Amino acid sequence: MKTAKLKCVIIVTYFLIASISAVKSSTEELTNVKRSDFPHEFLFGAATSAYQVEGAFHEDGKSLSNWDIFCHIDGNVIDGSNAEIADDHYHRFMEDIEIMESLGLTAYRFSISWSRVLPRGKLGVINQVAIDFYSKIIDNLVLRGIRPFVTLFHFEFPHELEERFGGWLSPLMQEEYVYFAEVCFRSFSDRVKHWLTFNEINLYAEFAYERAVFPPLRCSPPFGDCASGNSDVEPLVVAHNMLLAHGQAAKLYREKFKSKMDGVLGITVSAFMYVPLTDDENDKEAANRALAFNNGWTLDPLVFGEYPPEMRKIHGSELPRFSAEQSLLLSKSIDFIGINHYGTLYAKDCIHSGCICNDSSCTAGSDRAIRGYVYTAGERDGIPIGERTGMDRFYVVPRGMEDIVDYIKERYNNVPMFVTENGFSYPVEKDDSFQLHDVGRIQFHRSYLAHLAQAIRKGGDVRGYFVWSLMDNFEWSNGYGIKFGLYQIEHPTLKRIPKLSATWYTDFLNKSTIFDAPISCNDASRLQSQ
Ligand code: NOJ
Repeated sequence: MKTAKLKCVIIVTYFLIASISAVKSSTEELTNVKRSDFPHEFLFGAATSAYQVEGAFHEDGKSLSNWDIFCHIDGNVIDGSNAEIADDHYHRFMEDIEIMESLGLTAYRFSISWSRVLPRGKLGVINQVAIDFYSKIIDNLVLRGIRPFVTLFHFEFPHELEERFGGWLSPLMQEEYVYFAEVCFRSFSDRVKHWLTFNEINLYAEFAYERAVFPPLRCSPPFGDCASGNSDVEPLVVAHNMLLAHGQAAKLYREKFKSKMDGVLGITVSAFMYVPLTDDENDKEAANRALAFNNGWTLDPLVFGEYPPEMRKIHGSELPRFSAEQSLLLSKSIDFIGINHYGTLYAKDCIHSGCICNDSSCTAGSDRAIRGYVYTAGERDGIPIGERTGMDRFYVVPRGMEDIVDYIKERYNNVPMFVTENGFSYPVEKDDSFQLHDVGRIQFHRSYLAHLAQAIRKGGDVRGYFVWSLMDNFEWSNGYGIKFGLYQIEHPTLKRIPKLSATWYTDFLNKSTIFDAPISCNDASRLQSQ
């Protein structure tokens, strides 16, 4: 007994000493972090999205969305699941808000289901039950001092719009979106100060129209063998329509609704960090190109009014153009940038070395097909760039957080930033044993936060951080097997069970000022043995 206690004291002392002596110059080793490393007004939250948590897929007037249709086709979702019930957040939102309060969150990012609010788009009526539902969420957040961050488009929309005119491939979708945005602004901008027009245009365009893992499952070889689609051109068209829709919605917001609370409006990007595969100058260039193709595709137009020069050079006339008027509409149309950051990948040049990319070497596993003549992968000579996770391309590279913030800060003149998503999932085979005792997730957040704090010390204007996700949920085509939550959802009871990471986050937010968030003796030994 005595020995166990002594061992425990030694381990905890070890962590305390480590936390005091966090060597800030040796950035690779940053793992210790405390609340007071961040500015006083910095927001700490968690994020979800409507389709992934709400359930109630056909209730209270909601129509079927693109995802409802997609999930009901065999083979589209890995485990054959769907989000008919998901986390049942639609009926349990009060309990979930209480959880947020108990965690000590100061912000919560969620999205509004388009097919719930406007079941038939512009054609039909506004579904008042849906407006009341989101109103209740917002009121209860505000009451508890939790800032609502509202995303308008998080991959989900009324399926009817796909059927009627082909969804985002058509410019008609812009009008539909602006109408949806206006309904939301009108209903909620007296209480919501932070708006995100779109979640990850770059990932959506690629997943739905290049690689076909999202509806409407369109692609062409060598990216995949779909019934229809054009993987070279359609992602560009879709992103173009979304960017223009953003521009119009932003203008409308600034003209008619911003003044209600002096609100701000931004967008999120799926922001991988890329590092060159070798020291070769061409690979360095390739890493820069990958960054421009990935982040710049969305952000350059919304800050500078034009697609990145790197993309214009390579795509030529394939890339849609903005008229002078559109360019003016788009430039400076965001007040902040939402960074969804999970991992870092290697980039290899394919212009000078002429990568030969066949189906197996470029599209399988963690590798990706060539865009911008860059081949990106998570491994070099069979060695992963960081710890593997449950997601193919999400390797744990904490330093990437600092680098991506530095990059965005430099390229976009330090426009205010929020880390709108950052999270960890265990590889599926490991998940069961670590589901509740998720020390790997704690380590992930600590080290990514430590690097975020470092980026802020270097001058990055980052104003908040959101854990993805508040609770395990429907991970799109991956179903329920991949889990990112601070809370587990027990099936079939749907009981919310806090994981160790939930306790850690609460302690980090409430108790860590001088020292790193405390961990118990047991947790410390487990952390060491991982
Ligand atoms: C990005 C998306 O916004 C979110 O919906 C998804 O679940 C997470 N990343 C994890 O893949």
